[in-house]
Amino acid sequence: MRRQTQAILLGGVVLAALLVALYAYSVTDAGLDTSPLPRPDVNAPFIRTPDQIVRAMLELAEPEPGEVLYDLGCGDGRIVIAAAKDYGCRAVGYDIDPQRVSEARENVRQAGLEDRVAIVEQDIFTLDLRPADVVTIYLLPRLNAKLLPRLRQLRPGARIVSHDFDLPGITPDRSIEINEPPRDVEHSLYLWTAPLRSE
Ligand SMILES: C[S@@+](CC[C@H](N)C(=O)[O-])C[C@H]1O[C@@H](n2cnc3c(N)ncnc32)[C@H](O)[C@@H]1O
Repeated sequence: MRRQTQAILLGGVVLAALLVALYAYSVTDAGLDTSPLPRPDVNAPFIRTPDQIVRAMLELAEPEPGEVLYDLGCGDGRIVIAAAKDYGCRAVGYDIDPQRVSEARENVRQAGLEDRVAIVEQDIFTLDLRPADVVTIYLLPRLNAKLLPRLRQLRPGARIVSHDFDLPGITPDRSIEINEPPRDVEHSLYLWTAPLRSE
């Protein structure tokens, strides 16, 4: 009888530990926005590029004063702000989410860059990319694939830099891996120059 009680108690402890682990996992996971995207075929979730990775993306693209950089899905505007501030170029950030657009506009205003940075609420799949000298993206593989026909229209010499995801079937000029301390997260960056070369 005592053995049976011990077994029941042990089972209870194991079950409780499992429930605690399950709860901890769900709370940790909640750090990411896992809510379903309204239009998964044309939307990517909002995840910020860390500042040191933004700097590395811009070092790859090397925007020049007088050039125009587009960030497709600009989030809080950190890439367009850094591009205008550190490289003296003009920059346009496009985002479909009105909350991101107002956040990015406020960040541009606080940085005093309203004369060189515009934030536009627009679906990136409706854009004419031909005026851009540099295009930055941090989207998803299926969105990158869907963007390809528009990226192929870029003028010769225009650069594309992508955070974490490549362009399917297109050979990059460069690809690098960067570690992000202190989180110890690896980021992949890709650079292409138009016209795009198929593999
Ligand atoms: C991963 S975040 C990248 C934010 C920013 N570029 C960065 O690197 O920090 C992707 C952004 O793209 C926006 N987005 C997703 N689908 C879009 C679409 N079809 N048109 C415009 N913006 C889109 C999201 O609202 C989100 O802000």
